[in-house]
Amino acid sequence: MEIKEFEKMLASDRHQGNMEQIWDEKSSWFFHRTEKSKEKFENRLVFRLIRDRVLLQENSHILDIGCGTGRHLLEFSKYSSHLTGTDISSKMLTYAKEKLEKVSNLHLLHGNWMELFSKENEYDFVFASMTPAISLVEHIERMCFISRKYCMMERFVSHVDSVREEIQAMLGRALNRLHQNEKEYSYAVWNIVWNLGYFPEILYETEEYEEEKTVEEYLEQIECTKEEEKKIREFLKSREKNGKISSFHKIRRAVILWDIQER
Ligand SMILES: C[S@@+](CC[C@H](N)C(=O)[O-])C[C@H]1O[C@@H](n2cnc3c(N)ncnc32)[C@H](O)[C@@H]1O
Repeated sequence: MEIKEFEKMLASDRHQGNMEQIWDEKSSWFFHRTEKSKEKFENRLVFRLIRDRVLLQENSHILDIGCGTGRHLLEFSKYSSHLTGTDISSKMLTYAKEKLEKVSNLHLLHGNWMELFSKENEYDFVFASMTPAISLVEHIERMCFISRKYCMMERFVSHVDSVREEIQAMLGRALNRLHQNEKEYSYAVWNIVWNLGYFPEILYETEEYEEEKTVEEYLEQIECTKEEEKKIREFLKSREKNGKISSFHKIRRAVILWDIQER
């Protein structure tokens, strides 16, 4: 398949429109959701790889593209003291400033990263997690150009929610995809990086957790007819305890890592 065919798999309808406004509006929801997570963030595959393979040194220059509220930067600060984060949303960066107030030698730059970073070999480690900032071949080429050693990307691959599975079985049809079900994105990134002449590795991790949601929170994420909505509501109500439905989740994430010096 041609590189342009893979590029089509990177784009998503969810990421159309005024990115700054979209992410400014989502910033509070994103911050509170990620902060309340029970996940031990330092145990994520990204950081295990950094530790096991000694990818970072004290003097490594790190760039986090679409850094959001700064949760990865906070972890990176344990390994290096030359940190740069960039984000198109000023509100996301306000959360990041607060979260990273004790971190020195940190630069947070506001704007579209493609307009801010174009110096060859400027960083030792160019990182991007779950961001629409990487949605064209040109973006991956730029990551490679500004890196002198590693590039790393982290992305959701799949998300199974036990309650949604039951709803699917009840309706006898598949529900609309949750946004974390984006297998094709990592597949495309791997192929694009390979086609650019590098040797990308792809590794996976799974996370399992229980979560409680309200009937309305479930319904917000389901595209259905009025008739189906009635059935789903009845089913969810039968599962409700103290106003919440408890479900079991299994999330799979991919980490793609490549070394700019290996071609
Ligand atoms: C889902 S959030 C992920 C944030 C962070 N990487 C994390 O995993 O916690 C996606 C972020 O990408 C940012 N973003 C989207 N397009 C961008 C662009 N062109 N340049 C810089 N940041 C961008 C958004 O503002 C948002 O903060």
